[in-house]
Amino acid sequence: MNPNYSTIKTPDAPKKSEAIKKATALKPPIDVAKELAVTLASTYAIYLKTQNYHWNVTGPLFGTLHRVFDEQYHELAESIDTIAERIRALGAFAPATFKQLEDLGYIDEDHDIPAAAESMIQNLAADHEKIAKHVLDSIAVCNNKNDPASADLLVKRIRSHEKYAWMLRSFLKNELTTRTSH
Ligand SMILES: [Fe+2]
Repeated sequence: MNPNYSTIKTPDAPKKSEAIKKATALKPPIDVAKELAVTLASTYAIYLKTQNYHWNVTGPLFGTLHRVFDEQYHELAESIDTIAERIRALGAFAPATFKQLEDLGYIDEDHDIPAAAESMIQNLAADHEKIAKHVLDSIAVCNNKNDPASADLLVKRIRSHEKYAWMLRSFLKNELTTRTSH
């Protein structure tokens, strides 16, 4: 009954469309669980990236950014647990291996640690906006399947990701011109 997460891929990659079609053809709450699993994987990726930057940021804003990244990755960790437990409440298993998380998520990893703190800020802000956009699509699936509890959880996730994107972009001098719409 539970989805095979290793075959469920991200929403926007053409090569993954067949797996998504297969997953969404299953009866509810499997399709909602799939949306939550993709969100969990992407949240895990940005959690790890934020923790990476917390450890490795350098420069004159070190103290401030070290604390900001610390606050954000702790909240992201809590949200990962909340999302995973909602997946379990729906009767599916939560993805919990690096391979499953990598296959499901849509947040790109860094190949190297960014040299500049500004790059870290831009990367995270763009990733938060990307997650907020995808989560909005997932809420539509929840509503379509009459699952307000999952939708409510995801609304809270959008609120956090948009808040973090705003906070991070506020560090940038040209914040108004670099912001991307979604
Ligand atoms: Fe720390």
